[in-house]
Amino acid sequence: MIVPASLLGQAANPAQSLGGNGHVPVMLAEVLAALTPHAGGIYVDCTFGEGGYTKALLGAAECRVFAVDRDPRAIALAHTLAAGCDGRLDVLEGCFGDVEELLAARGVSAAQGIVFDLGVSSAHIDEAELGFSFRFDGPLDMRMGASGETAADLVARLPEQELARIIFEYGDERCARRVASAIVEARAVEPILRTGRLASIVRRVVPMSKDGIDPATRTFQALRMAVNDEPGELVRGLAASERLLAPGGHLAMVAFHSFEDRIVKDFLRRRAGNLPGPSRHEPMAIGGVARCEPSFRLAARRPLMPSDAEIASNPRSRSARLRVAERTPAAPILVS
Ligand SMILES: C[S@@+](CC[C@H](N)C(=O)[O-])C[C@H]1O[C@@H](n2cnc3c(N)ncnc32)[C@H](O)[C@@H]1O
Repeated sequence: MIVPASLLGQAANPAQSLGGNGHVPVMLAEVLAALTPHAGGIYVDCTFGEGGYTKALLGAAECRVFAVDRDPRAIALAHTLAAGCDGRLDVLEGCFGDVEELLAARGVSAAQGIVFDLGVSSAHIDEAELGFSFRFDGPLDMRMGASGETAADLVARLPEQELARIIFEYGDERCARRVASAIVEARAVEPILRTGRLASIVRRVVPMSKDGIDPATRTFQALRMAVNDEPGELVRGLAASERLLAPGGHLAMVAFHSFEDRIVKDFLRRRAGNLPGPSRHEPMAIGGVARCEPSFRLAARRPLMPSDAEIASNPRSRSARLRVAERTPAAPILVS
């Protein structure tokens, strides 16, 4: 074990040893196998969270890890871990869309592996005051970081059509128009400031699905993505990874929603020369990309999924999709 055992933790959930709320890293073995950390390598964990991947990387090889997170609480946790890591862990507070600039500020311009574990951590969901969950009543906030517009601001400001688009596109909600109309009606009576009120507005117009998933799930997911500009961050993070990864380096991306997985799939297939044409979520890739030398080689056409055993022990992993690709020596595909 290369990181001190006291920091890696002997408990069933290592995050608890760092004072985290117990986020269980998803598909950890598969992510580690994809990144194949080696001594002297530089690895970037773009979504530190409670540090599950970072700790595994540090424990697997005498490598250096840069941990990025936009949430100041995750950053505080990362600093605690870094204090016991003999300078092998650097902590970078900020958005992974800016990962190139964050690394450049530390004099780093290339990495052997980059991992993303998209979305929020269990700590976000379980903390009512952050307003991510419809299970607990709290302020309608949903910001992962400390600045920017809250979900309450968006719900108060956006026109009905834009609300419907966000809820449909990011949330895969078939009743998006009905939800948007109910929100607009309700906000005319009184501002929507609490998660509980928003959840009950949505539940009134969206029927319960057969699988028993709360009707508010998809609307909350969509608003969270909009508040944190998650699609934009993902596109910028992917493009930055292409520029940062050294030839032979690996990208590992864990996505939980079909909308995000589609962005990753299209980006990688286009970079691997398998998909012609532009994507409106990827403005950098307009025209001619298929004719360029592939900058990534896909590990597999289809994403890896968690095993039945993992789903049974960590139900949150059930919708995870892991896509892995190896950087080729070709220049990054930069189309402005
Ligand atoms: C699913 S959790 C990661 C969990 C982590 N793999 C672990 O094992 O503990 C996602 C983390 O990424 C952070 N995050 C999400 N989007 C981000 C972004 N655009 N930039 C930086 N951090 C982000 C969140 O604050 C959260 O802490």
